[in-house]
Amino acid sequence: MASNDRNVQISKIGIIGAGVSGLAAAKQLAPCEPIIFEATDSIGGVWKHCSYRSTKLQSLRCDYEFSDFPWPDRDNSSFPSHAEIVDYLESYAKHFDLLRFVKLNSKVVEVRFIGDQKITDNGGAYGSLLPGEPAWEVAVQTGSDTIQWYAFEFLVMCIGKYGDIPRMPVFPKGKGPDVFQGKVLHSMDYSKLDQEAATQLLRGKKVVVVGYKKSAIDLAMECAEANQGPEGQPCTMIVRTRHWIVPHYWVWGLPFFLFYSTRFSQFLHERPNQSLLRTLLCLLFTPLRRGVSKFIESYLLWKMPLEKYGLKPEHPFEEDYASCQMAIVPENFFSEADKGKIVFKRPSKWWFYEGGIEFEDKTRVEADVVALATGFEGKQKIKSILPEPFRSVVEFPSGIMPLYRGMIHPLIPNMAFVGYLESVSNLHSAELGCKWLSRLAGGELKLPSVEGMMEQTAKEVEVSKRTTRFYKRHCISTYSINHDDEICEEMGWSAWRKRNWFFEAFSPYTSQDYEKEK
Ligand SMILES: Cc1cc2nc3c(=O)[nH]c(=O)nc-3n(C[C@H](O)[C@H](O)[C@H](O)COP(=O)(O)OP(=O)(O)OC[C@H]3O[C@@H](n4cnc5c(N)ncnc54)[C@H](O)[C@@H]3O)c2cc1C
Ligand SMILES: NC(=O)c1ccc[n+]([C@@H]2O[C@H](COP(=O)([O-])OP(=O)(O)OC[C@H]3O[C@@H](n4cnc5c(N)ncnc54)[C@H](OP(=O)(O)O)[C@@H]3O)[C@@H](O)[C@H]2O)c1
Repeated sequence: MASNDRNVQISKIGIIGAGVSGLAAAKQLAPCEPIIFEATDSIGGVWKHCSYRSTKLQSLRCDYEFSDFPWPDRDNSSFPSHAEIVDYLESYAKHFDLLRFVKLNSKVVEVRFIGDQKITDNGGAYGSLLPGEPAWEVAVQTGSDTIQWYAFEFLVMCIGKYGDIPRMPVFPKGKGPDVFQGKVLHSMDYSKLDQEAATQLLRGKKVVVVGYKKSAIDLAMECAEANQGPEGQPCTMIVRTRHWIVPHYWVWGLPFFLFYSTRFSQFLHERPNQSLLRTLLCLLFTPLRRGVSKFIESYLLWKMPLEKYGLKPEHPFEEDYASCQMAIVPENFFSEADKGKIVFKRPSKWWFYEGGIEFEDKTRVEADVVALATGFEGKQKIKSILPEPFRSVVEFPSGIMPLYRGMIHPLIPNMAFVGYLESVSNLHSAELGCKWLSRLAGGELKLPSVEGMMEQTAKEVEVSKRTTRFYKRHCISTYSINHDDEICEEMGWSAWRKRNWFFEAFSPYTSQDYEKEK
């Protein structure tokens, strides 16, 4: 039975999670000596605990980099492996002496609100992040039977959107995994296997991979690699929605950043809070935006046999980009398909039968192993920790978490969320966000009213929904520079950060542009 130690330790700031976001928060909030709770035995988050042997960064190094801690070989255009990323994060933590804040093997199992701040009081003001007395109590499980309580004025949630809770498909009775005689596992379970066990699982087996995004594509590739030779079996991918996939960051010889990551290219796209004139200009620019998207599509269709395999999406490329869904496809993916090692099926409905998977047209695929690369339940993770009434407002009012500047939920006091805003590099969004957060906590900048923040988040959702039918994530990839401009302005920094107007217009913005105040 768990021993419940109510000898509460009081501190100013608590951070939950020691992945990229938790480390970014720790660095920026270091003067307040935060305590970081990490459920596992190491820092690094998904790069340590949710990666396959073949997992690599999809962003460029110069994008996925802390502004004051360059990659040792930042101009190397290859994508670093997950192990290299863990090394980079560990070096960062050591260099800035962050490990002294981290409590490993410390899982937060319960959070209670003990503050007396009523967020709608005071004319709808949000209130101070550091009110001078504890607002949250946190129960931390440190062993199988020990709970230690802590109390904080301000809590930063960095528990990650991916990993920990798998998204599992739901089936009618008698058609779920229970009727299947083979093995079913989620991509998250697969990522926990060592190389030997992973190869054993796949080699010589008929494998079905459900999904057509990054986890699924990489798993199918590992499956094809384990099934080389005459005894090898094909791996069947179940593709529900066809999305655009990308082989590398070059398009007809031009660098990809030219299309979406410069001030000039983002000028063509709608952004929240824009003037009427800009709205009209955006309408005028519609053919130009479509042209850019078509130009990229023409390259992807030329470079990869998407039409041959029935994988050409029906929507414009821009919609995948604007919803942060773009997956980089491994180099030999289609040569494995050409060899028959990867096969694609596109049913809208499927279910299990005892020997494998059945589709709505009654055709079947035999399987020994079914791997569900069906994504993760990030919001469930938050909801499992947050108490009522906050749990109920997590997605209020639009079904999407309304986070002001990607971090502050207007209806949840003394708490910030880091790692929920997505763009070309989630590391950059987390780091710049935490710079803003540390100034907010220090009282150097003021938040709008609760109503004002709700309005701003609603505008972001509207813009994103107009831009892409796939809007599910808080993705700002088509107006990320404008988002960063607003953060800089609130911090009293200059928004325009390049050395001259030419670079300002046509060179990409990366983390290093935001190293310090200008
Ligand atoms: C395989 C994979 C590859 C990716 N590739 C890219 C990429 O190329 N580019 C990109 O920009 N993004 C990528 N992402 C997105 C990625 O999630 C972010 O870039 C970033 O690493 C997220 O960091 P995080 O700290 O927010 O979350 P996480 O890395 O998930 O870290 C959360 C941490 O919180 C801990 N935790 C959770 N619950 C608790 C609790 N109750 N108590 C204590 N600790 C807890 C977890 O153990 C974990 O260590 C990828 C994601 C995955 C899964
Ligand atoms: N850097 C890397 O190498 C790397 C590796 C892995 C993951 N990641 C990142 O991690 C995050 C999660 O990626 P993910 O691929 O695990 O999850 P994901 O992006 O949520 O994709 C889930 C996939 O499963 C499909 N799916 C879900 N339920 C299904 C069902 N019932 N039937 C058929 N298909 C179903 C989805 O289809 P629909 O499109 O139809 O919903 C989608 O193709 C992403 O941000 C990704 O970029 C990065």
